[in-house]
Formats: sequence, C-alpha cells, structure tokens
Amino acid sequence: MPTSSLTVSSEPAGPSDLTRLFERFWHPVATIEELEAAAPHPLAVTLLGRRLAVADLGAGGIGAVADRCLHRSSKLSVGWVEDGAFRCGYHGWRWDAAGRCVEIPSMPDGPIPPRACIPAFDTQIAYGLVWVRLDGSADTVVPACPAWADASMKVVAGGPYTWPVSAPRRVENFVDLAHFAWVHDGSLGRRDTPVPPLPRIRREDGELRFEYDPPEMETDETALFGFSRYRMPIPLSVSIDFELADGARRNLWMTASPVDDGSCRTFWFVSRDDRHDEDDGPHMDFQALVLREDEPLVTNQDPPELSLDPTFELSVRTDRVSIEYRRWLRELVAANAGDGTELAAVLASARALGEQRVQG
Ligand code: FES
Ligand SMILES: [Fe+2]
Repeated sequence: MPTSSLTVSSEPAGPSDLTRLFERFWHPVATIEELEAAAPHPLAVTLLGRRLAVADLGAGGIGAVADRCLHRSSKLSVGWVEDGAFRCGYHGWRWDAAGRCVEIPSMPDGPIPPRACIPAFDTQIAYGLVWVRLDGSADTVVPACPAWADASMKVVAGGPYTWPVSAPRRVENFVDLAHFAWVHDGSLGRRDTPVPPLPRIRREDGELRFEYDPPEMETDETALFGFSRYRMPIPLSVSIDFELADGARRNLWMTASPVDDGSCRTFWFVSRDDRHDEDDGPHMDFQALVLREDEPLVTNQDPPELSLDPTFELSVRTDRVSIEYRRWLRELVAANAGDGTELAAVLASARALGEQRVQG
C-alpha cells in the first residue's frame, strides 16, 4: 500500500556537517580571467549549494553576494556593476559589497527600508583566483601555494574542471596511494607493483603531511614522478613537492572547490624549477592524461558524497592516508559544532594532536 504523501515529513534537509565545516574555509570560485570575461555582468557561481554573484566593484574590491535581489528575486548576475555596486536589471535597485541596498530608483527620496540587506561574503584574490568564505567566524586562511613565492619555480595554471563528485572524494583520490597501480598503470604506477608503501602521516603546523616513494619505472620527462612530499593545508587542498631523478623540483597544487554536495570544481597549478624555456604544453598534457585516467572512477563513486561513518565503506591497512584524512575531517566537524572558536583552536593545535597520535 503506498503511503499518503501527507505522511511524508516536510522538514527540509539542513546543510550537512561537512557543508557547515567548509563554510568556514576559503574556496576558489573563479579565475580572475573568468571574472573579467563576465564584466560588466557579475559572474554567477555556486559554492556549497549557494548561488552567488561575484564582481569586481572597483574601489569597493571584489564583491560576493547572494545571487538574489531581495525585491522580486531576480538574479543579480543578470544585472551589471555600476558605481561600485551590483545593479539589479529588473527595477534597478543597487546593492553594495556589504549587501546593503544603496539605491531604489523608483523612490529617489527614500527611504530605503532597513530590511534591504542581502547576504554578503568575504572575498580575496590569491594566485590569480577569486576566493570566497561564507562564514568568517573561525579566522581561517587561504591554503598556501608555496611555488607562487618561489622565484625558481615557473607556475603554470591548469584549466579548472568540474566533476560530478563531492570535493572530499575528489581530494581523497588525489592522496590515494593504492590507486596508482590500477588507474595509472604505466603513467604513475605499475599494476605488477600493487602494494603501496605505508607513509608516516602526521599533523604539522595545522597541515596533514606525508611522504611517498614511488616504484621504479620509466616515465616521460614531463611526468610528475619521484619522491613526493604531500601537504594538505586544509582538507580540500593538496600541494605535492616532487624530487625528480635528475634533481629537478616540481610541484602539483590543487584545491577542490565544493560547488554542492555532489560536485566540485578543481583549480590547479603545475610548477617546475627546470626547463622554464620549454613549451608548457607537454607538461600539461601529462596532467590531462592522469585526469582522463582518474575521471571515470572518481565520478562513478556512488554516492558522490563522502560518508564520515567508518562502517559505510570498508577500509584496509593500505588505505592509511584516506583513513587519516577521514579522521581529520571527523575531528574538524566535531570541533565545528560551536561558534568557530573551537575549530580555530583545533586548527592551531593540530601539531600537538599529530604528535600525540604518532606517539600513541
Ligand atoms: S527584482 Fe531587483 S530591483 Fe526588482
Ligand atoms: Fe589518480
């Protein structure tokens, strides 16, 4: 017997624990070029399920506001930027970077109702990307990309890509040592060498870190392959320093921006201290090959969300990195239950926690 639709709970599902956690971190939402290409219109982006209008407001800096005019709900992203504010295209109301209505053209003498405010968010530019933070109460910072400050490194930006998988799953794949032999047979691993080394994973300076020594194999000179130092400054960002056999240093950096619970957009850079004069194309082609190998597996994880319930999937000893990654996420989610001060304290004390774990 089908049950009556009247018996179905109408309680709306709230944001997930991970969504509430990620609201307190900075995320890239666009490249500067994408923002400029949209002008004079604001750029429409989605971050953690929220639709935002983002624009360069000139002296007002980069503005990011909810992409919904409070008057009659038209999207501000179909309006334009005017006098340092978002001009709605429908009846012309203007909204500043703080989300305050500063003009209602049909009522030039006012008053502007006190309720005429829309949600506005923190923004900043770093590494040629526009970053947004939805909740500024935990004093978080943009994840470091050390190659940008290293004059010996040539930094090349890869094209951002959107995959139908949650950001934590995308990132977990990036640090999954056991999949190299299978998914990247011949490019990053060997199927006849399926047992990965078990790295010593620890928390240092608020980051999750470990090292990886790949198996012996012939690789293309554009391959990012060699002794690798992994650093995760936040749970959605990875920086890998490679030492190539010939002594060259390279770096692969990525941050997965959580579009919503089931999709993410990855921003990434490849940096090298050798072959600066060489064409970048072959270096990026190698990364494109790796992404083509990953995509069908990663985007067919069902469900696309990463569950923090340790019994939902089955981990084994060789999943050490992802076990620690998930443990880190669970700790941050638990610390995030309050007003942000506990999360900030956990981020600051990550070194001590990591040392205790290594000893214990
Ligand atoms: S809907 Fe924006 S001004 Fe009317
Ligand atoms: Fe991979």
